[in-house]
Amino acid sequence: MDQIRVRGGAALQGSIPIAGAKNACLALMPATLLTDEPLTLTNAPRLSDISTMGALLGSLGAEVAGLQEGRVLALSSHALTGSRADYDIVRKMRASVLVLGPLIARLGHAEVSLPGGCAIGARPVDLHRMAMERLGAEIELRDGYLHARAPRGLRGAVIDFPIVSVGATENALMAAVLARGTTVLKNAAREPEIVDLARCLRGMGAQIDGEGSPEIVIEGVDRLGGSTHRVVADRIELGTYMLAPAITGGDVECLGGRLELVAAFAEKLGAAGVAVEETAAGLRVHRRDGPLRAVDVETAPFPGFPTDLQAQMMALLSTASGVSVLEERIFENRFMHAPELARMGAQIEVHGGTATVTGVERLRGAPVMATDLRASVSLILAALAAEGETVVSRVYHLDRGYERVEEKLGACGADIERISE
Ligand code: EPZ
Repeated sequence: MDQIRVRGGAALQGSIPIAGAKNACLALMPATLLTDEPLTLTNAPRLSDISTMGALLGSLGAEVAGLQEGRVLALSSHALTGSRADYDIVRKMRASVLVLGPLIARLGHAEVSLPGGCAIGARPVDLHRMAMERLGAEIELRDGYLHARAPRGLRGAVIDFPIVSVGATENALMAAVLARGTTVLKNAAREPEIVDLARCLRGMGAQIDGEGSPEIVIEGVDRLGGSTHRVVADRIELGTYMLAPAITGGDVECLGGRLELVAAFAEKLGAAGVAVEETAAGLRVHRRDGPLRAVDVETAPFPGFPTDLQAQMMALLSTASGVSVLEERIFENRFMHAPELARMGAQIEVHGGTATVTGVERLRGAPVMATDLRASVSLILAALAAEGETVVSRVYHLDRGYERVEEKLGACGADIERISE
């Protein structure tokens, strides 16, 4: 298993290109199942999760080209041969459940494994199921699989989500575009990934209004056609790399970054003493004079502070002067990075969904272990600022969501290398 070794201390300087969003791409790829015409996605990131989704779509009979090269994915579902998302794939990647809506809409049936537990929380899929049932699907749980049928097709409905769910909104959107009549999604997720999916579906001929607001209205159409769509920039990769100059006292331009993708996060950075400026090519981030200051953070659905940047922000606040309180409101177990950061000298107390971070002058390098995607990159950020050497193991988590992390940071002067075994 690969490890990443970092020798901390360098103030990062330079520019980092931001890739297309993993979580947008993972929702866009299943949209191919809705049409027999080709769907081309440009600006796709090259990540193991994207390959996993490609393998899942392939197992359903879709043709997926471009996974090796990255950037341009050519998808075609002109002849689907399967309707089953196997446990072996779904347990590796929960986003697999995003084939449920498109399969029911296109074929009238689907068998999708329940994903099971996850390192950051229970993450049930009851809202995905509720949305499909509201659209007229009959769903039964058998042998660990959701067996869905809509023999008379799907029909539009009002779906009122009791809590905001990104994935359930995406599934409902993809099912509703081919349902008969009007669907209204209430308390819908407003994430940029939802907006990107809606834009892509509209390019395929769907009738959708209101994406980016809590109410999305969809007028079902008989069929969708092909399209070419550019994947939106990855706001979580952007936020992560914005923290690299912030934590090391450097100055980095994140190319392709846009402030509206990370507004709540950038506001907290500002309060912590980090300058964020819009440039012609992206966002420039550097430390203002003086030490980092403690700030309180509460995660929330978009446009709030993203849970996917909480671990990385904790790394920054570990070195800020004062006491910061981080409240994790989306997932119940998303502080696994705290004990690893503590191995590097961070002072963090966790009680339930609250972490209290007392800033220390200096972190110190140590061997640490990645527990999930965002936790792993928080350890790398901490390592960039730490004195001495840090070795992060289990970096396969990192490869699920960060493309060439060691190259991107290395190009800005970080002393970082991958040790392959
Ligand atoms: C998406 O997951 C992202 N994944 C996650 O990114 C991200 O953390 C999350 O949204 C929140 O922003 C992808 O887009 C592939 P949710 P998703 O449904 O859709 C509960 C990363 O690091 N819930 O919005 O699965 C759920 O347990 C990953 O890239 C139900 O109760 O998240 C959670 O508490 C990790 N029932 C809350 O809703 C359901 O049926 C929000 O989850 C569905 C969700």
